[in-house]
Amino acid sequence: MTFEQAKKLLEEKGQAQLLRFYDELDETQRKTLLDAIGNISWDFETALANPVDLSGKGRDIQPIDGLSLEQVAERKAEFESVGVKAIQDGKVAAVLLAGGMGTRLGVDGPKGAYDIGVTKPLYIFEQQMRNLAEVNEKCGAIVPLYIMTSDKNHAQTVAFWQEHNYFGYPETEVKFFKQDMAPAVDYNDKIILERKDLPALSPNGNGGWFVSLMNAGLTEDLKKRGVEWLNIYAVDNVLQRIADPVFVGATIVSGVNCGAKVVGKAEPREKVGVLCLDDGQPNIIEYYELTDEMANQKDANGNLAYRYGVILNYLFRMSKLEEIARQRIPIHIVEKKIECLCEDGETRKPDKENGKKFETLVVDLIKPMGSVLPFEVEREKEFAPIKNKTGVDSVESARELLKKNGVEL
Ligand code: UTP
Repeated sequence: MTFEQAKKLLEEKGQAQLLRFYDELDETQRKTLLDAIGNISWDFETALANPVDLSGKGRDIQPIDGLSLEQVAERKAEFESVGVKAIQDGKVAAVLLAGGMGTRLGVDGPKGAYDIGVTKPLYIFEQQMRNLAEVNEKCGAIVPLYIMTSDKNHAQTVAFWQEHNYFGYPETEVKFFKQDMAPAVDYNDKIILERKDLPALSPNGNGGWFVSLMNAGLTEDLKKRGVEWLNIYAVDNVLQRIADPVFVGATIVSGVNCGAKVVGKAEPREKVGVLCLDDGQPNIIEYYELTDEMANQKDANGNLAYRYGVILNYLFRMSKLEEIARQRIPIHIVEKKIECLCEDGETRKPDKENGKKFETLVVDLIKPMGSVLPFEVEREKEFAPIKNKTGVDSVESARELLKKNGVEL
C-alpha cells in the first residue's frame, strides 16, 4: 500500500492518527507501517457498530441432553471400537489452538513452551503430546496434528518444536498455520499505535481457526488424507485427552456434527460456559448469562439441569465446517491492557485496561454446527487448565492434578 492510499483509507475510516509519526520514520519503518495498515481487517467496525448482545434476554434457553459419565461407561467398548477404526482409517486429525497470548500466565513466548516440571523439565506441549502418543500406540496409526499460532508466537513455536524433535512425532505429521490479527482500539475507538511504525495488533481470538486453516491451504491437505473429523483442543489443559477413541466413536455413533467434551459443574455458579438449547439450537451460554434460577435448576435425577461445562475440546465434522466457514460469527469486544507507545516514545504495557480488543470465539461455532453431543468426562482426570501462575486454574493446581494422575514432575 502506498502512503497516499493509506492516507485516503485512514481518513475515510477516521484513523489518520496511525500516520502521526510517518515523517520521522526511515524507509524500512515506513514500509512496515504501510504493510501493517494494508493488512488491517476492518471487521472490528462491525463489532463496534453492532455489539454482541450477551444478556440472553428474549431467548428461549433450555437444558440439553448429553452422555453422562455412567452412560459413556456403559457403552465404552462400542464407542471405542468405532473411534479406533476411524483413527486407523485416517479420518481424524487434531488441531491445537496455540495462537493465544497467555497474558494471565504472564510469560513471553508460546504458552506451550512453559516448563511445568519440578525436578526435571516438562513442557506443556510435551505433556500433551504424551497423550497423543498413547492414542497412536493403541490404534497403530498416527493422528496428524495441525498447530495454530499467531504472528506474535509463530517463529518461537516452530523453533521450539524443531528443537524438541517434534516431541517424537514424524515431522511430516505436524503442520503449523497462523491465525489472523485484529487491531486494538482505545476508548475513543481509535486504533492504538504500539510503535511509531506499528499499529497494536493481536490474535483475533480462537473462533477463526477453521478459516485460517483454509486460508493456509491446509484443508486441501486434510482432504487428500481423507480426514473427516477435526479434534480441536486448547494448549492450556495439561490433562487434555486428544483424539480420544471413545469420544470420537461416541460422536460418530450419535450422528451429530460436533462432539463436545464437558465436565459436570463443580457448583451452580461455576464460571464455565455450559451447553444448552438456545431457541432450539445447541449453543454455549456463558456463566453470566445464566440466571440464578437456571443455575440452580435440577433435572428429574436431581442433577443440575445446566451442568455440562465445556473444556475446549471439540470434535467437528469437517464437511459441516466447510459449509459454515464463511458464515459470520459474533465478534466479542474485550477490555485489555494493551501495549502502547507512551509520550516518551517507549512502548509499555499499562497497569490497567486502556482499550479494547476484538475476538471471535470457538464456542460461537456450536450453534452453526447445528447438532452437538455433550460427552461427560471426569474432571480430575481430564481437566487441568493453566491460566494463571498461582491460585485457581494455575501452574500450581495443574501440578497437583498431574501428580494425582501419576505424572512424575
Ligand atoms: P484463552 O482464552 O485462555 O486465551 O485461550 P489466552 O490468550 O491463551 O490467555 P489469556 O487470556 O491471554 O491469559 C484458550 C485457548 O485458545 C487459544 C489459546 O492459545 C488457548 O489454547 N487461542 C486464544 C488462540 O489460539 N487464539 C486466540 O486468539 C486466543
